[in-house]
Amino acid sequence: MKTTLSRLQKMVQSGEKIACLTAYDASFAHWLDQAGVDVILVGDSLGMVVQGHGSTLPVSIKEMVYHTQMVQRGNLNAWCIADLPFMSDATLEEALVSTRLLMKEGGANMVKLEGGQRVLNTVAHLSALGIPVCGHLGLLPQSVEKKGYKVVGRDRDSAEKLLKDALALQAHGAEMLVLECVPSALAKTVTEALSIPVIGIGAGGDTSGQVLVLYDLLGLTVGKTPLFAKNYLEGHDGEDSIQRALEAYVAEVKSGEFPASCHEIRL
Ligand code: KIV
Repeated sequence: MKTTLSRLQKMVQSGEKIACLTAYDASFAHWLDQAGVDVILVGDSLGMVVQGHGSTLPVSIKEMVYHTQMVQRGNLNAWCIADLPFMSDATLEEALVSTRLLMKEGGANMVKLEGGQRVLNTVAHLSALGIPVCGHLGLLPQSVEKKGYKVVGRDRDSAEKLLKDALALQAHGAEMLVLECVPSALAKTVTEALSIPVIGIGAGGDTSGQVLVLYDLLGLTVGKTPLFAKNYLEGHDGEDSIQRALEAYVAEVKSGEFPASCHEIRL
């Protein structure tokens, strides 16, 4: 059955955890969908794990459309979010053009953009046009040159700002939120304060769902794997397969075993 925004909303209300993973091509999208992944994110992390760049900054809107098209050929049921890559939402006009490409040519169900105050006007415009928008707060990979890869929200001021930004995103029409590298207590506060699904990555177990970069889950990432990630291809008594790893991830997100069994960022 095709996952819709209202189904994801119902999952939040019933307490069923949302399992989300990144994918960048048709084959993996097919296997994620088969494993019962609720949401597939065509993340601009593809710039690092597929293209071999040192950050997500070089990824273009054309490349995002190309990967979203591939994913949507392999995906039947999962809700598909595509990232607006670096600078593709620098102005409202650019954001509209980029969103049109991701949804009309790429076939995405929702677009995701990074930031708080800066993107509120864009979120409101897209939402008024009937476009589902996902916010992204906490560690913002597109701002790495200015802010680095750091946990966000450890001190009171930054925690209060993050909560304020999350509430503002929802008030301006965002219908989902990704929280990246945020202390678990703050992620819990934000999730409880919002009615939209909050998907965490390195944000503890009290969000509405979890997302991981697929290559981290399969142990394919070259270089450093984040501490909060888990390799699901390991430790299944000789029965290792990608399908089994994906099913184990979905089952552990639903039961709460993931990320409970992993490194947690605390206040
Ligand atoms: O690009 C991406 O994969 C992401 C996740 C890390 C949430 O934005």
